[in-house]
Amino acid sequence: MKRVIFWLITFTAILGACLTNNANALPKEYATIVPPENLNAPELIAAGRDLYVADCAVCHGATGNGQGTTQPRFGLKVVDFTDRARMQSLAEQYLFWRISEGGRVEPFRAQGSIMPAWKFQLSDAQRWQLVAFIRTLAR
Ligand code: HEC
Repeated sequence: MKRVIFWLITFTAILGACLTNNANALPKEYATIVPPENLNAPELIAAGRDLYVADCAVCHGATGNGQGTTQPRFGLKVVDFTDRARMQSLAEQYLFWRISEGGRVEPFRAQGSIMPAWKFQLSDAQRWQLVAFIRTLAR
């Protein structure tokens, strides 16, 4: 009986970890944000590209394939923004959340993410420009 309970708890814990590790786990204050309407606007994308080259390419790679010159030695690998299926599964609000809070929130923190939080350095508008640009990398 003890064994059954042990496995039951283990199973629930693993299931819980899997569920919180998906895109729907984003906090309410981000989930309810309405993205700017003009995310496809060329000037927004161009501004996002400049920010990306300056702040993100070092890890995420110039093409967004996750192969920048700085790579984490431990923990989560840099994600691939050119992976179309993966990117299509991610909401705009999810990308905005991740850029804003980086790896300092769970479950990414516990997994050793080195993704910085950009909300302290970049305005909301700039972080949306980055979302707009990142969206173009898988097209
Ligand atoms: C020091 C390296 C580093 C820098 C610089 C960096 N990132 Fe990241 N980023 C990561 C790593 C590692 C991950 C994967 C781990 C995670 O999801 O937290 C990640 C994850 C992300 C994700 C989540 C993607 C997904 O599919 O879940 C987004 C969005 C993102 N980064 C955008 C950016 C943007 C935009 C910038 C620049 C403003 C940036 N990153 C700068 C390392 C970095």
